[in-house]
Amino acid sequence: MQSLYSKIESAAKNAILDGTGQDSDPIVRWSTKPEFGDFQINAAMGLGKALGEKPRDIAQKILDKLDLSGLSDRKPEIAGPGFINVFLSQDAINEYAHQLLLDDNCGVRKSLTPKRIVIDYGGANIAKEMHVGHLRSTIIGDSINRILTFLGHETIKQDHLGDWGTQFGMLVEFLCVDGKIPQQLPDLNDLDSFYKQAQSKFKSDEDFATKARARVALLQSGDTDSLRAWQHINDETMKHLLNIYDRLGVLLNKNDSRGESFYNNMLIGVCKDLEEKGIALESDGALVVYKDGVLDRDGNPFGLIVRKSDGGYGYATTDIAALKFAAEHDKADRVIYVVDARQAQHFQIVFDVTKRAGWIDNTEPEHAMFGTILGSDGKPFKTRSGDVVKLSALLDESIERANNLIAEKSSSLPDDEKQELSSMIGIGALKYGDLSNNRAKNYVFDWERMIAMEGNTAPYLQYAIARINSLIRKSEVELSLIRGTEFVIESQFEKDLVLEISKFGETLEEVESTLEPHRLCTYLFDLAQRFTSFYENCPVLKEEDEPKRLSRLALSFLAARTLKQGLELLGIGSPERM
Ligand code: ARG
Repeated sequence: MQSLYSKIESAAKNAILDGTGQDSDPIVRWSTKPEFGDFQINAAMGLGKALGEKPRDIAQKILDKLDLSGLSDRKPEIAGPGFINVFLSQDAINEYAHQLLLDDNCGVRKSLTPKRIVIDYGGANIAKEMHVGHLRSTIIGDSINRILTFLGHETIKQDHLGDWGTQFGMLVEFLCVDGKIPQQLPDLNDLDSFYKQAQSKFKSDEDFATKARARVALLQSGDTDSLRAWQHINDETMKHLLNIYDRLGVLLNKNDSRGESFYNNMLIGVCKDLEEKGIALESDGALVVYKDGVLDRDGNPFGLIVRKSDGGYGYATTDIAALKFAAEHDKADRVIYVVDARQAQHFQIVFDVTKRAGWIDNTEPEHAMFGTILGSDGKPFKTRSGDVVKLSALLDESIERANNLIAEKSSSLPDDEKQELSSMIGIGALKYGDLSNNRAKNYVFDWERMIAMEGNTAPYLQYAIARINSLIRKSEVELSLIRGTEFVIESQFEKDLVLEISKFGETLEEVESTLEPHRLCTYLFDLAQRFTSFYENCPVLKEEDEPKRLSRLALSFLAARTLKQGLELLGIGSPERM
């Protein structure tokens, strides 16, 4: 269904065309004060300048053609230099709310131009445990994926796992017993210690190091036994990763794995093409690519090595091949990389090189970069002993803390429900605590701020939903009856709530273009607060007038439904009760 905003926007666009002959953005804004109406059409100022006429005269021309039938029964007003203030009628608001009740998509219109979008997120490294560095990629990517899918796009999730490279020579060699890879390979329950042991042997044992290097060559030449061991390390890591994905409640799964190894057989061709096109240049025996204006700290051109002097390929070559593949094979319209901001230059060059090579003419690559999670000391988040924080430990702690929160709040719930609730609240708080920050900025990790019932947090929103659910239960009105309600919206509080609910679709469209899920968080928080002021000022169950009581109940239902759907698009669950 069409949103209120979009109805006003189309009416305004038509009026501008009829009144001035211009096909331009009507610049419709939500009004910030009731005396300025509900919407403002702000195009007259810019048009006045462009056409050399007084903005107020332009505003009048627009107004003369503005057809707001079914939306407004009060003449719009021209204010200040040429703002047009539009006042919605009570009927229009009642009717809109009624339509909303019947719409299973929460009033959100599917994209009129659905796209095919590759989203690169997750990206953990094989044989290493996933740590907080990958947390952001995984949950931001998951939310972007959910939102784009909800808007009707076709998404292709891609987990660009670090599963290839010279370190695998060392790891495979470390599995050898008496110089041979055993039939029965061991479980690798502690990946970090496995990696560290292999690494320290590589450093201290000259003989081992030589064999490890030879193992790299074996792996690259496709030696079956070496590949079997490599596959085993992959499978063992995957078990660990899938467990984390599952606990986190992200949609990423095994079928989405498209690690670096996948692109291996394309690398020779990519380098050859880049060299022939004169894009990759020889430097000290290596092959390097640059982008104009991308410099290192000393102000020298910063390049990416696509072929090392020993003939090996690396991370950059793989990313160039991967983007080419997304364009040519996946036919992606957009490719979104949810990757650490510290890789910004890497992606600038990868995008530029691939574009210059003519491989992505119909594909738009975007680096949805994120900042670093900091500890309270302002340095990258570490454990007290200075180690990287393991994700599994972080998840455990979030649930533990949620448990304590619930012990105070929801002591009357049965034990199994409490347990489920702890995990929903703990993990939800952790994810929301991350998603609600401006993606590109660093943020300080703070349990107290995240797991709190007050403020812009997941528990606050979850509680708001549970409270409305309980209100609806107490009313003993059947949902089917609520969904057929005719609205009687009278007070400003009720009206504000409807208008806020109606912003859901536009908010999601903002995330669609900016790839910033925190905008959805801010919206949900605003919505919950709007609900609170409505609830504090308009009695629901105690309202004596039956149609009004039902109308308010239905309004509460709409608010809860939007909050719940919004949290779901962030990958966060909401409890029936709390
Ligand atoms: N494995 C990489 C890392 O840990 C992240 C991969 C991101 N995706 C990509 N296409 N480069 O830094």
